[in-house]
Amino acid sequence: MKSQTNAVIQAIFKRRSIGRLKKPGPSEAELITILRSGAAAPDHKLTRPFWFVVFEGRAREEFGTVMVESLMKRAAAENFTPTQGQIEKERSKFLRAPLVIAVVAIRHRDIHVPDQEIISAGAAAAQNMLIAATSLGFGSIWRTGSAAYDTEVKLALGVREDDFVIGFLYFGSLDDGLELQPNDPELSAIVSVWEG
Ligand SMILES: Cc1cc2nc3c(=O)[nH]c(=O)nc-3n(C[C@H](O)[C@H](O)[C@H](O)COP(=O)(O)O)c2cc1C
Repeated sequence: MKSQTNAVIQAIFKRRSIGRLKKPGPSEAELITILRSGAAAPDHKLTRPFWFVVFEGRAREEFGTVMVESLMKRAAAENFTPTQGQIEKERSKFLRAPLVIAVVAIRHRDIHVPDQEIISAGAAAAQNMLIAATSLGFGSIWRTGSAAYDTEVKLALGVREDDFVIGFLYFGSLDDGLELQPNDPELSAIVSVWEG
């Protein structure tokens, strides 16, 4: 890692996607810190286009019903029959971590903000949450999948069809001794300097 660093920069590089996260999840106070970090993201025109839905404990199982119902509707519309394995996978998705936060970017009904900027603000909120959780010592992963684009799921989350599910963020503890390499890509492939 680069020598110039501080706690925020360390958390940025320490964050990696972890598929399976165990208990304990963030405490009530840590959850509030994570949510406040999300809400502190920038947004154009100050419409605060954020909607966060928290799932812990049994709520994760209960939302599995919504996930399965939406899968079945998609399957019917697209004319395929999900296997029992696919159905059970969908039902248990939120059980892969003790805490899941659905991050939704919502349209303002009166003030026009371009879609790109609503989604950008939502993504900034999601990333703020991941960095805050990393800094608090938790693992995380940002997931989407078909459910993120599904009208049934959006309505169940309390938003409208034309709002944007930015992702389902999973949070929890890592296996002891898990060593993760920082995600620190080579800059030459992605940076160009405009020579004045
Ligand atoms: C918008 C978005 C959606 C993602 N959806 C998924 C997903 O559905 N399943 C998954 O395993 N990872 C998902 N990821 C995580 C990426 O796979 C991961 O960030 C990428 O492989 C880089 O690895 P890192 O996060 O460990 O640096 C998503 C990331 C973003 C930004």
